[in-house]
Amino acid sequence: MNDILTALHARRSVRAYLDRPISDADKKAILLAACAAPTAGNQQLYTILDITDQALKDALAESCDHQSFIAQAPMVLVFCADCRKWYDAYAEAGLSPRTPGAGDLLLAVTDAAIAAQNAVTAAESLGIGSCYIGDILEQYETHRELLCLPEYVVPSVMLVFGYPTEQQKRREKPQRFDLRHIVHENRYRHMDGPELREMFAPRAANGYDAWVAAFCKRKYESDFAREMTRSVGQYLKQFDSGEEQEYNCTKPNSGGTVMEKVYEFLKAAGTYYLATVDGDQPRVRPFGTVHIFEGRLYIQTGKSKDVSRQLAANPKAELCAFKDGVWVRVSGKLVEDDRVEARKSMLDAYPDLRAMYDENDGNTQVLYFQDAAATFSSFTAPPETVRF
Ligand SMILES: Cc1cc2nc3c(=O)[nH]c(=O)nc-3n(C[C@H](O)[C@H](O)[C@H](O)COP(=O)(O)O)c2cc1C
Repeated sequence: MNDILTALHARRSVRAYLDRPISDADKKAILLAACAAPTAGNQQLYTILDITDQALKDALAESCDHQSFIAQAPMVLVFCADCRKWYDAYAEAGLSPRTPGAGDLLLAVTDAAIAAQNAVTAAESLGIGSCYIGDILEQYETHRELLCLPEYVVPSVMLVFGYPTEQQKRREKPQRFDLRHIVHENRYRHMDGPELREMFAPRAANGYDAWVAAFCKRKYESDFAREMTRSVGQYLKQFDSGEEQEYNCTKPNSGGTVMEKVYEFLKAAGTYYLATVDGDQPRVRPFGTVHIFEGRLYIQTGKSKDVSRQLAANPKAELCAFKDGVWVRVSGKLVEDDRVEARKSMLDAYPDLRAMYDENDGNTQVLYFQDAAATFSSFTAPPETVRF
């Protein structure tokens, strides 16, 4: 075998890394190798997100099926199938072409995957291991928000990289199916039961039926696989109907954000009504405080109040405000932030409250919305839902 074949056969997924950074020069070499891959019409129908923000890595480790090694990887790349930039480029030239469709998406996914595999091989040549993370296709709403993805951009491939630990170097490469089951000559051959049993025999040491049943339960029928199908279905809608609402980004560098839109509305409305549950009894009361701190939407109350007690028992809450024929409902969980700086930030935004509250009084409480959905409604326009 030549060096390239040897490297291709030796590569294994690496999921535990040495505490050793990847140099800028090596990262650049990997990225340039990715871009050297074949690409349909030389369009490079992908955008690579270089995830350097540790908080974002942590969030992706959670949202990608709680795979903690993602957070520990020194380099994380998300290859987005990007049908947006050429569409925008056409518009920039004064054209109004058709909106991207399913064919454009598949071509872009192919481009992204080929580029990603070049990155894997390049990294391998530098002694850097990698692992694909399929779960990036899950959690449509969360990932669009976290990665600021506009319409027609799909995070199709995620890769994590790092120098392998000794244990990872020793790990055996999982066996592949025999070539005769993978390669069909000229035309597709439907594999019958006996051939399937033969194909799986090397893997199913405890018997075909039991092994396949366990695999089906663990992978195909799993929560994550169902979530992936739901989430990808949401992306596909963008390429179907053109009805999708564009998501804004809540990150500070992106200008107006969905959260700011909700915040501005609540501020302008002056009063909103906050509903909590008290056992099986809904409770609602007028509220006025709303504040953005560290990219989250906060409200404020006192620990001595019933609302605080109710939220401690059940953090689910919904608020509603009305202004000029438009109303917003925000639902989600209200989570306490017990940091003094969070309380101080709120009171600094509402100095009048200092007549009753102090960040160190043991009573002042600030809570932020988690997994929130805000729906703007009116009698004249269709509802618009945003998440943050
Ligand atoms: C599209 C794709 C998605 C994957 N997703 C994950 C993942 O989320 N987590 C993980 O640990 N491995 C993931 N893998 C790695 C596979 O489990 C691995 O490639 C397979 O078991 C074969 O092992 P090898 O890469 O060591 O040869 C993924 C691989 C691919 C190609």
